[in-house]
Amino acid sequence: MSQHLSARREFLRFLAASPLIAAPQEPSAKDALSVLDFEPLAHKALPPAHWGYMSTGVDDDLTVRMNREAMGHYQIRARRLAGVEKPDLSFELFGKVWNSPIYFSAVSAQRAFHPDAELGTARAAKAKNVVQMLSTVSSASVEEVGKALGEPPWYQLYMPTTWPETEKLVRRVEAAGCGVLAWTIDSLGGRNAETAARLARTDTRVCRTCHPSGPDFNQGTSRNRAKPMFEGLSGEMNPAGADWSYVDRLKKMTKMKLLLKGIDTAEDAVLAREHGVDGVVVSNHGGRATETGRGTIDILPEVVDAVGKQIPVFVDGGFRRGTDVFKALSLGARAVGIGRPYVWGLASFGQEGVERVIDILRAELIMTMRNCGVRSAAKFTRDSVLRNGARL
Ligand SMILES: Cc1cc2nc3c(=O)[nH]c(=O)nc-3n(C[C@H](O)[C@H](O)[C@H](O)COP(=O)(O)O)c2cc1C
Repeated sequence: MSQHLSARREFLRFLAASPLIAAPQEPSAKDALSVLDFEPLAHKALPPAHWGYMSTGVDDDLTVRMNREAMGHYQIRARRLAGVEKPDLSFELFGKVWNSPIYFSAVSAQRAFHPDAELGTARAAKAKNVVQMLSTVSSASVEEVGKALGEPPWYQLYMPTTWPETEKLVRRVEAAGCGVLAWTIDSLGGRNAETAARLARTDTRVCRTCHPSGPDFNQGTSRNRAKPMFEGLSGEMNPAGADWSYVDRLKKMTKMKLLLKGIDTAEDAVLAREHGVDGVVVSNHGGRATETGRGTIDILPEVVDAVGKQIPVFVDGGFRRGTDVFKALSLGARAVGIGRPYVWGLASFGQEGVERVIDILRAELIMTMRNCGVRSAAKFTRDSVLRNGARL
């Protein structure tokens, strides 16, 4: 059997197993039982090239799978009769209180998934009081998103390749009122998004109708020029030669809180702290940067041990269940980011789908905290988790 046929058969099986797609009537966001139910709906809603862009990892997509599989390396130590009726999920950071320690991480070009794009996500984030991190390669500008969100988002920076352009972008983001800047440093050297490229070849539409300079899965520069945040900029971004002196210079340039997104070792976490960074995000870009084969939850403990007492540590990659979030918070994460799940919701039902994704994750987390004796997001400890059956 050809590879194509078996992949198709697998996809049909996947669709048939979805309670939403199998539903006799038109499914609604409320029918979803788990955030994973939105994945086949998003797949169905999107043309192959856009689905490929959303789902791709790099090389053989091993790291995408490892982000999920690594959740199984941890087990929950459940304490009973702790009298936890209403766990407090609120989470305070940089002077603001949020409704849950789960946030929407930066996902680029959301118009490829739904016409409401980042504005649909912003309205959902506002309704649920959730942090929204906006990508530099967004379909909507930081100013428009700020209006829909009711406040400036956290801003994810893909650094332009020259300092004058970096300063110009940083000043625009500051003028929009953003207080947090998350510089993504995990893909400065480019990437090989092979699944995206392969699926684009199966798409019968002509990419150049909407993308005059052709499809771009690898964060190249040509298409960026057309994006709202690249107005007046060349579109060249991600300086491959960047080193820690860039962090110093960026820190000096702005008073925004600076996070580094894509820290994957204790050594780099220590360097980040020494260079005055305000927080780090353990992330492998959802398996879209380098095929490291390491799940982010496996990386989290070494980073927390290195710097967790001094600066907040965030994590993203493969979080699909309240129990996954529970494990990361027990290991010392301050908050957990999600990427694909909320854009599955967006692609399927717009704002309503994004809201349902956060509702489901929150409900699962609350139930786990109740059953396992954790009173509040601030009260997690490693006593609640085991790694491969052993205490950490
Ligand atoms: C379609 C897509 C686009 C993304 N775009 C960006 C981006 O522009 N900037 C960035 O820092 N990370 C980007 N990411 C990575 C996410 O911020 C996040 O690290 C990752 O999605 C988390 O993994 P998850 O999708 O398994 O939840 C993107 C991820 C996806 C799936």
